Amino acid sequence: MYSEKVMDHFNHPRNVGEIENASGVGTVGNAKCGDIMRMYLDIDENQIIRDVKFKTFGCGAAVATSSMATELVKGKTVNEALQVTNKAVMEALDGLPPVKVHCSLLAEEAIHAALWDYAEKHGIEIEGLEKPVNDIGEKEEAPEEEY
Ligand code: FES
Repeated sequence: MYSEKVMDHFNHPRNVGEIENASGVGTVGNAKCGDIMRMYLDIDENQIIRDVKFKTFGCGAAVATSSMATELVKGKTVNEALQVTNKAVMEALDGLPPVKVHCSLLAEEAIHAALWDYAEKHGIEIEGLEKPVNDIGEKEEAPEEEY
C-alpha cells in the first residue's frame, strides 16, 4: 500500500524537532482527523532556508510527507520553497494512497504558514504566498468518505 520511500521516511523521519528563535513558525491542523503539524524555518539574510524542523501529532503519511517536504525545502530560497507543493512531495515519495492525499497537505500548508510568519515578522512580501489557513479541511477539494 505504501511505497518504500514512504516507509523509509515514516520509519526514519528527517528533520524532526524544533528550532529555537526560528525565523518563521507555522502550525496547521486538519479538523477531520485531528492531526496537527508545526514547521520551523531558519532563514538567512539572503532568504535561503538554512534549516527546517517539524513536529507533528499526525498519522504516518503526515510524518512521511513532512519529512520529505523538509528535505525538499532545505537550502532553497523562500520563493523556491513555495514550489514544493504537496503534489511535488507525493511524487518524490512515489505516491500515496488516495485516502492519504489530504495528509500531504498538512506539510505544504505548514510550510506556507511558517513562510507567512517569517514574512510578517520581517515586513516583506513573498510573491505568490497566500494567507495560510488554520484548518486544511477548508482546502480539501472534494468531500471524502468517512474512513
Ligand atoms: Fe490526519 Fe493523515 S490522517 S493527517
